[in-house]
Amino acid sequence: MSRAHHPKRAAPPAWLAALPAWFMALAYAAGAAAPLPAWAQGADGKALFMKNCAACHQASGKGIPGAFPALAGNPLVQGAPGEPVAVLLQGRGGMPDFSGSLSDEEIASVLSYARGAWGNKAAPVGAEAVAALRGQLGAQRHASGQMSNKH
Ligand code: HEC
Repeated sequence: MSRAHHPKRAAPPAWLAALPAWFMALAYAAGAAAPLPAWAQGADGKALFMKNCAACHQASGKGIPGAFPALAGNPLVQGAPGEPVAVLLQGRGGMPDFSGSLSDEEIASVLSYARGAWGNKAAPVGAEAVAALRGQLGAQRHASGQMSNKH
C-alpha cells in the first residue's frame, strides 16, 4: 500500500504483456520524454504525465486511435473531477490502476495538467478531492465485501 515513492518502477508488469501497442508506444514516449525541463515550475504534473501516461495517451494527449483514448478535448477529463480521479484510482479496461503508485498529490497534479493541456480548459483538481474519493472508494470496497455498512 505504501509504494508512493517509487517513481522509476511505476509500471506493473501484468498489463505490459496484454498490450501489443505498448512497445511501440514506449519507444515513442522514451524519445519524446528525454528533454524535460518541467521540474522548475513547482507543479510537476507534466513530468508525471510524461512518465506515467504519455506512453499510452501520448505527449500530444491525442492517444492512439483504437487503443488509447485521446485526453485532449475529452469531456470526461474536463468534467466533474470525481470521474477522472476514479479512473486513475481504480483503473479501467486496459488502463492500469494508479492508486498504489501515485500519491493523492501526484494524481491531483497529473490530472490538473491533463485538464489544462492541449487546449483543455478545466479547473485543476486538489489533492483533498483525491484523498476524499480514495477514502470513499476504499469504504465501498469494504462495504461490498462485508455488506455491513448499511442500516
Ligand atoms: C497502459 C496504457 C495506459 C496508461 C499508462 C494510462 N492509460 Fe489512461 N487509459 C488507457 C485506456 C486503454 C483507457 C480506456 C479504458 C476503457 O474505457 O476501457 C484509458 C482511459 C483513460 C481515461 C478515461 C477517458 C475516457 O474518455 O473514458 C482517463 C481520464 C485516463 N485514461 C487518464 C490517464 C492518465 C492521467 C494516465 C497517467 C497517470 C493514464 N491514463 C495512463 C490506457 C492507459
